[in-house]
Amino acid sequence: MAAIVSEKLLDWYDANARDLPWRARPGEAAPDPYRVWLSEIMLQQTTVAAVKPYFEAFTRRWPSVEALAAAPEEDIMAAWAGLGYYSRARNLVKAARALAVRGGFPDTEEELRQLPGLGPYTAAAVAAIAFGRRAVVVDANVERVVARLFALTEPLPGVRKAIRACAESITPSQQSGDFAQAMMDLGSNICTVRDPKCLLCPLEKDCRGRAEGDPATLPAKAPKKAKPIRIGEAYWIELDGAVWLVKREGKGMLGGMRSLPDDGWSARGDGAGTPPIQGNWEHSGLVRHSFTHFTLELSVKRYRGSAIPEGEGVWWPIDRLEDAGLPTLFAKAARLALA
Ligand code: ADE
Repeated sequence: MAAIVSEKLLDWYDANARDLPWRARPGEAAPDPYRVWLSEIMLQQTTVAAVKPYFEAFTRRWPSVEALAAAPEEDIMAAWAGLGYYSRARNLVKAARALAVRGGFPDTEEELRQLPGLGPYTAAAVAAIAFGRRAVVVDANVERVVARLFALTEPLPGVRKAIRACAESITPSQQSGDFAQAMMDLGSNICTVRDPKCLLCPLEKDCRGRAEGDPATLPAKAPKKAKPIRIGEAYWIELDGAVWLVKREGKGMLGGMRSLPDDGWSARGDGAGTPPIQGNWEHSGLVRHSFTHFTLELSVKRYRGSAIPEGEGVWWPIDRLEDAGLPTLFAKAARLALA
């Protein structure tokens, strides 16, 4: 079955590949490793649609890994604002600098794994897509396709080992980059989560999930635990058309990003915050924001007085707030304070 599956899939990809800015067309010379790496980092936990404009902006501004390595970290973090999962951007900076020092990208999965921010998935994807190496590339789309194709009914996450072994068994030794991206496109356009379009699928006849039952139920998931809720406060301090912004601690949540001052919710479980100024605070509203392991309810407090906060920060002109590179949580808080 392995050879038949990969051949059918590669034929399907020739005709149906999505045209994406970081890709070569099927069969064309491999794309620039810098573009492949950057796109794969951006695409971790983020959709293709959300990534596209960021990818275009980054590659216009920093066309090579050397250009990215030479850029101030602050500029890169600000350009990343809105994409989320900011440790990806911090690792991107570290990896770019390491790559500039070593004179470019290594071309094996093992060496790629040594770079900051490159886990097993990303190292395999870059090795296969940029360097034509045979590598087993398993993201959430591929997981779904493989679980269905082989009718793997054990729930996630336990089923991952079997998924990997099955994915390995169908990965071809040539064109494994095209194969990986074909699996992603199949998962994204045909073998979709809720309503797979089996009649359009090139693997319909090979799919045990379809033969044995309802492929839409695979992969099964262990029941989700409810996310805990954390409570926090953010402080909008306004003076003469400017707002007080701080730089967040490197290691905490949204580390390295510019933000409104807050009460330390990211380190603390719960409880009432202490505003950075004694004075008359108004309540502007509540922002609910979901992180991987908890949901934050952030209460936004506004102060318009003459007291000056202590500590490091900048007065940022409110009419240029879009240029501050605030992460989405604080951009939402700012909109409430200005409403
Ligand atoms: N998701 C992650 N990597 C991708 C790629 N190269 N093409 C499409 N979707 C992806």
